[in-house]
Amino acid sequence: MKPLLSCLALAAALAAPPAARGAYPDRPVTMIVPFAAGGPTDVIARIVAENMSRTLGQQVVIENVAGAGGTTGITRAAQAAPDGYTIAMGHMGTHGAAPALYPDLKYDPVKDFAPIGLAAGTPIVIVARKDFPAKDLKEFLAYVKANSDKLNEAHAGVGSVSFTSCALFNSLAGARPTRVTYRGTGPAMNDLVSGQVDYMCDQIVNLVPQIQAGTIKAYAVALPERSPALPDVPTTKEAGLPEFQVSAWNAVFAPRGTPPEILKKLSDALVKAVEDPGTSKRLLDLGGDLSNKAARTPDGLGKLVESEVARWSKVLKAAAPPAK
Ligand code: MLT
Repeated sequence: MKPLLSCLALAAALAAPPAARGAYPDRPVTMIVPFAAGGPTDVIARIVAENMSRTLGQQVVIENVAGAGGTTGITRAAQAAPDGYTIAMGHMGTHGAAPALYPDLKYDPVKDFAPIGLAAGTPIVIVARKDFPAKDLKEFLAYVKANSDKLNEAHAGVGSVSFTSCALFNSLAGARPTRVTYRGTGPAMNDLVSGQVDYMCDQIVNLVPQIQAGTIKAYAVALPERSPALPDVPTTKEAGLPEFQVSAWNAVFAPRGTPPEILKKLSDALVKAVEDPGTSKRLLDLGGDLSNKAARTPDGLGKLVESEVARWSKVLKAAAPPAK
């Protein structure tokens, strides 16, 4: 082809609507994880992305864009081209709690995204360094109340699940620890294991191997029932803090305006991933909760996000001041 003709052909191809350019996806899809590698959001994203890549016939590549409690990466996803090549793993923090904590949040979790589906529910567990001087939750509550000015609590930034959950826990416990910010609870876990920080309220999928290995202590899971992945860890109700009930969730979103046929492909691939026996076993073994099938659909996830934004705005006004 002559150079002028090939330029014209390229221009025509780029001007064509996505469907006419070839079947979606014809190149790798980026899934933004708004926290550091190795934490719960990253772990869930990598498990489902591996399976989605097989279904879509293109790699779903994880890009960790950490900062500001997950809101930096999610802002980037909201502003990406709505062409199905940039999606994000958001969660109860980025798409539920963040609006109540950031008056200047650059995205609206409801209006700026097309929901794809829920990946997994992730119960919250109260964990501490392995030599923390409390044998159960009652002793832990008494200790954090009496000594909170000497204690460091780790979290993944204002608006993250760990920040939000422990804001609630601290308020119920009457504790005022130093709140230490990390780019994700993956790096925070390293410091909890080495004893540089004292405790955190984290999503179960980041915790099960460490609790089983005895490198950290678990005081309670904030659920009405024990988690099958941690059958020896009592619920907050059993252990003496029944008011502390928090379960997070991780879900996949595309920017608003993504074409419906692309959303359908992504949503079908996600459902297939979560329902695949091998993938679901990996999520369940880590304590993931796969019971909310309704939220695995775009409509169901949309409803979940709306209700979570409303819920956390009420809860957090009482428990945590807005970020500067
Ligand atoms: C959170 O606290 O929101 C998460 O644990 C962050 C992460 O995935 O590291």
